[in-house]
Amino acid sequence: MKHEKVPVSVLGTGRLGTALVAAFLAAGHPVTVWNRTSGKTAPLAANGATVAGSVAEAVAVSPLVLTVLLDHAAVRAKLSEVDLRDRTLLNISSSAPDDIRALAEWASGRGAAYLDAAVMALPQAVGTPDAQVLYSGSAAAFDRYGEQLAALGTSRYLAEDPGVAELYSIGLLSAGYGTLFGFLHGVALLDTAGMRPTDFLEMVVPWLGGMLAFLPELAREIETADYTSGESSLEINLRALEYIEATSRSTDVAPGFVKPALDLVRKRMETEGPTDSVAGVFEAMRRKV
Ligand SMILES: NC(=O)c1ccc[n+]([C@@H]2O[C@H](COP(=O)([O-])OP(=O)(O)OC[C@H]3O[C@@H](n4cnc5c(N)ncnc54)[C@H](OP(=O)(O)O)[C@@H]3O)[C@@H](O)[C@H]2O)c1
Repeated sequence: MKHEKVPVSVLGTGRLGTALVAAFLAAGHPVTVWNRTSGKTAPLAANGATVAGSVAEAVAVSPLVLTVLLDHAAVRAKLSEVDLRDRTLLNISSSAPDDIRALAEWASGRGAAYLDAAVMALPQAVGTPDAQVLYSGSAAAFDRYGEQLAALGTSRYLAEDPGVAELYSIGLLSAGYGTLFGFLHGVALLDTAGMRPTDFLEMVVPWLGGMLAFLPELAREIETADYTSGESSLEINLRALEYIEATSRSTDVAPGFVKPALDLVRKRMETEGPTDSVAGVFEAMRRKV
């Protein structure tokens, strides 16, 4: 069945908002934009967007309203005087999951259906399948608009709990930052022996590929809560982390992530045997010991 392209209003045309507007325009949606600094909307108008004179005007003309502002507080401040009845508010501004939940409750209390999205991509990838867009909140709203939102990237609806998309985003960022800061720490250690980051890179990339292949095993152990048959023991990992810590000290390199990782392994070993899997550190993270 062919769908009419829903009119969309986008509040906030910074880097991400601009990319989202471009993707909607390319897919044939009528798009209305508003931005606090009005000059930023001129290139979008040249590409076919309509520029609204106020937030209220932008909200009034489209059933689907995207907010792409700094955070939840900016969204609330801008929408506080606006009639949200019969609108679907799709918030893309990042915030902590609890703040997103409070925003959803506030918007629902004012008559809007609330959907949250976490865009896991740089603006230049928006509008391509490489942009993962994670949704949570009103399932009815996602049912209504999900097909059209595919114009933004690869969609994934996760849960009615509006905070879940942002929680996934934070989990993905945490996994990414662990890798990023681990890489920088490795580069700093090798720098003490005059090694070049680009030479290190040749070994890091395949090495990390092997590490990634290990993740399904960790996930399986955590889901079954069976840490007795894992391939990588607490003791082996304790030793490896102690070597990294000692080498950081002797080379006068800041220890990076090593200290908190060591603390978690040691905490787990207070109650579990040395041959238990390192995956059990998850239990220490959840303070279950
Ligand atoms: N860029 C990314 O890769 C990316 C990816 C995922 C999520 N996000 C999230 O998307 C949101 C926007 O990011 P961005 O990269 O587009 O940032 P940006 O380029 O800095 O743009 C920020 C936008 O928010 C507006 N804004 C900020 N504070 C405001 C306020 N108090 N009242 C009204 N408008 C306000 C700005 O208006 P002015 O033009 O007037 O300053 C601008 O339109 C953020 O929450 C960010 O975390 C970004």
